[in-house]
Parts: sequence; structure tokens; C-alpha cells
Amino acid sequence: MAAGEIRFRVRRGGGADDPEARYQTYTLRVRPRMTVLDALVAIQNGQDPSLGYRYSCRVGMCGTCALQVNGRPRWACRTRLQALGERVTLEPLTNFPVLRDLAVDMTPFFDKMKRARAWAEPTGAASSEPARIPPESRERGRIEPHIECITCGICYSACSMVGHDPAFLGPAALNRAYTLVCDSRDEIGPNRLANLADEHGIWRCHSQFNCTEACPKGISPTAAIQGLKRRAVADGAKSFVGSILRGRAPGA
Ligand code: SF4
Ligand code: FES
Repeated sequence: MAAGEIRFRVRRGGGADDPEARYQTYTLRVRPRMTVLDALVAIQNGQDPSLGYRYSCRVGMCGTCALQVNGRPRWACRTRLQALGERVTLEPLTNFPVLRDLAVDMTPFFDKMKRARAWAEPTGAASSEPARIPPESRERGRIEPHIECITCGICYSACSMVGHDPAFLGPAALNRAYTLVCDSRDEIGPNRLANLADEHGIWRCHSQFNCTEACPKGISPTAAIQGLKRRAVADGAKSFVGSILRGRAPGA
């Protein structure tokens, strides 16, 4: 291979229209500061217009370009080739069905966002008056590290528990739910938590931190899930004590 060239081994097929998964090799002369996404565009334009992949913003804002680079989930548009060596393997994100080549179907991921009710449901007070959470408040401090998620699916792909239990809500949906459970403007907070506290929700997480290590936004979904677990335990303890004080057997 000539200097300045990289050999790309790219997973092709795997979708309904082309079910036979295989690897195809492309060699490309690369420029300094080129990214994985630049290489995919160059290969598609110059060598193989049939290559399937997805992107939109090219600047780390939309999250649509996520794929596996040398076995690790990453954003194609923010991964420079320089540090990757002369051979680069590109594959679709794991834990997602493949649509075509490197493009995956995000439906299971967003279905789980829906299961976690990942949208704010404000209180009556919040809808009549502009609600404020002061920037220096403890509430804001809890929520702040978890709000920059762009739903790229990298954490979901990195999570071994999603691979083990496809019904597991996964790190991104639980991270989002944590921001809402902590938010005093959200009316269904306790009910939202009850909905998450089952064997396919927070208790499935084994705190392996794979999601946290992989998230390109520096978010720790593991910490969010731990926060949800603490709240679930505290709520359970409160209801236990309450039932004793009321002179009833817990759960009766
Ligand atoms: S938590 Fe991070 S890795 Fe997971 S979807 Fe959001 S931005 Fe992507
Ligand atoms: S293309 Fe938008 S994050 Fe990469």
C-alpha cells in the first residue's frame, strides 16, 4: 500500500433487500485531518455509489452518522483517520437491525424512548406561569450533566445488557427519564419512575459503564440510572414506613 493510503474493510449487506452480510475492501488516498465520514463520501463518489451509510450535519450535532469504527461505536464525522492506522474496519452499530450496509434502523431505540415517556408532561402551574429552575439550584445541578443527549444511539450500541435483553430500555431512554424524574415541572415524575423500575428497566443495568465510556457528549447514563435506582429505593422505603405508620402490612 502506498504512503498516505488507508485500506477500509466495510461491512456490506445485512438488510432485507440484500441479506447476505459480507466485507468489501476499498483503498483510499487520504488527506490530513480527514474523518471517517469524509472517507465514506470519497469512496461513494469515486469508487462505489452503492455504498449505504447515513449522515446529516457533519459537525457532531445530529447523531445520525454513528457506526462501528475498528469495533467501537463512534461518530463518523468526528473521528479522524489519523489515529486509526492503515487498516480501518467499518461496521453498522451493534444492537440495531441493519437497513443497508452501515445504516441501521433506529426504530427499537426510539420505541424505548416512547416506553420511557421521554417527554416532559408539565404541571398545571407550569403551563399557566413560565416555570423556572434557577441555574444554581440543586435540581438544575442534577439535571445539567444529562441534558445534551442527541440520541445518536452510541451508548445503546455499546451496552452489553441491551445485547443480552432486547427488551431492556437502555441507557439513552433511562438517561432522558432521569432528567424528567428530577424536574419539578414534570407532573408524572413518580409514575414515570414506577414505569421504569422493573426487570427490563433500571434493575437490568449492571453498572458496567460501557455507555458512559462510549458517549461522545461526555454524558454518563450509568450515573443517571444509579440516580433512578436511588429514587426507586427511597420511594419504596417511604411507602414501607408509611404503611407501618398507618398500621397496615406493607403492600396490604
Ligand atoms: S447518551 Fe450520549 S451516546 Fe447515548 S444517545 Fe445520548 S449522546 Fe448518544
Ligand atoms: S453527521 Fe451529524 S453527528 Fe455526524
